Amino acid sequence: MKLQKFIFLIFILSISFMITNCTREVTIDMKIQKQAFGTTPGGQEVLLYTLTNSNNMQVQITNYGGIITSILVPDKNGKLSDVVLGYDNLDSYIKVTPYFGCIVGRYGNRIAKGQFTLNGKTYSLATNNGRNHLHGGIVGFDKVVWTAKEITEKEVLGLELSYLSKDGEEGYPGSLSATVTYTLTNQNEIKIDYLATTDQPTVVNLTNHSYFNLKDAGLTPILDHQLMLDADAITPVDSTLIPTGEFMPVAGTPFDFKNLTPIGERINADDQQIKYGLGYDHNFVLNGKMGELRLIGKVYEPASGRVLEVLTTEPGVQFYSGNFLDGSITGKNGAVYHRRHGFCLETQHYPDSPNQPNFPSTVLNPGEKYQATTIYKFSVKK
Ligand code: GLA
Repeated sequence: MKLQKFIFLIFILSISFMITNCTREVTIDMKIQKQAFGTTPGGQEVLLYTLTNSNNMQVQITNYGGIITSILVPDKNGKLSDVVLGYDNLDSYIKVTPYFGCIVGRYGNRIAKGQFTLNGKTYSLATNNGRNHLHGGIVGFDKVVWTAKEITEKEVLGLELSYLSKDGEEGYPGSLSATVTYTLTNQNEIKIDYLATTDQPTVVNLTNHSYFNLKDAGLTPILDHQLMLDADAITPVDSTLIPTGEFMPVAGTPFDFKNLTPIGERINADDQQIKYGLGYDHNFVLNGKMGELRLIGKVYEPASGRVLEVLTTEPGVQFYSGNFLDGSITGKNGAVYHRRHGFCLETQHYPDSPNQPNFPSTVLNPGEKYQATTIYKFSVKK
């Protein structure tokens, strides 16, 4: 009898072991799929890649502009839904976009009057933002087709995008070879590795311009989202959003996000910097050591329970509260993107660094490697 019981117990144990293992195999089902996304006016075929991790988190990326078109993550009840703004189709991205989800380059953010001097030579770039240069010019890295390579290794799912920006493109010196690798991990992280080399001295500052809305992907304002940024100062700007070169302590100002604070709490404050930005559109000087991957920001959205953490090796982050969204764009699922329906956390070197001797340098010389990493990590707080 005892022996029978023992055999029965062993039987039950082996069954449960098999079930556990089997479930593990079923859940570890990371995959990458690709589909056609359309053709550019110049006839280039564009693809849309869907990366799915073992938690069913899903990220879609197109090789047009390296745009992240959707990010499906669970809320506090485990319900998956999209948390970024964007379009359903390629034509809309080509027609008009406020840089939805894209890779920004060769120089993310502004360069004053579209000019900078490097090794005694002055370079002129397009002035596509009032009198300044913004986000790489007329045809920046957000508007080109990147060469895509799928990466499927054990526990790693990624998309490597490469682009060769020719000498003189958009006025920048040197041929710049850029590689941006998006990786989706089973920890619900999107890791972005930026790499670039050049054959002549140039300037480079790459970032990603995803507009997040952790509640509903842009149907409603982001003002209830709570934000933490590990920054003691911002680089204050003039009325054209060019840094004055100073560092302004955030203590006692609407820019103090050292503890989680609703974005909307001080967004209309009677403050000169807020007025210049029409809200938040500023570079935060991040604490910690540039070059070291560290947690620099956190966003918590109370209704969904979703949390976004941002880690980066960069010295700065542009916190943009979607002030220029004006309801003129209808995006995915018919969502109308009104003012402040999305926010960006663009990890970066400071704006206008090529003209600011006191800012960390954005010069890249032949033989050097431009390298940066940013992680957007999603979770929930119940
Ligand atoms: C950046 C800028 C903003 C705005 C957006 C795009 O984040 O800082 O001023 O130009 O891009 O609309």
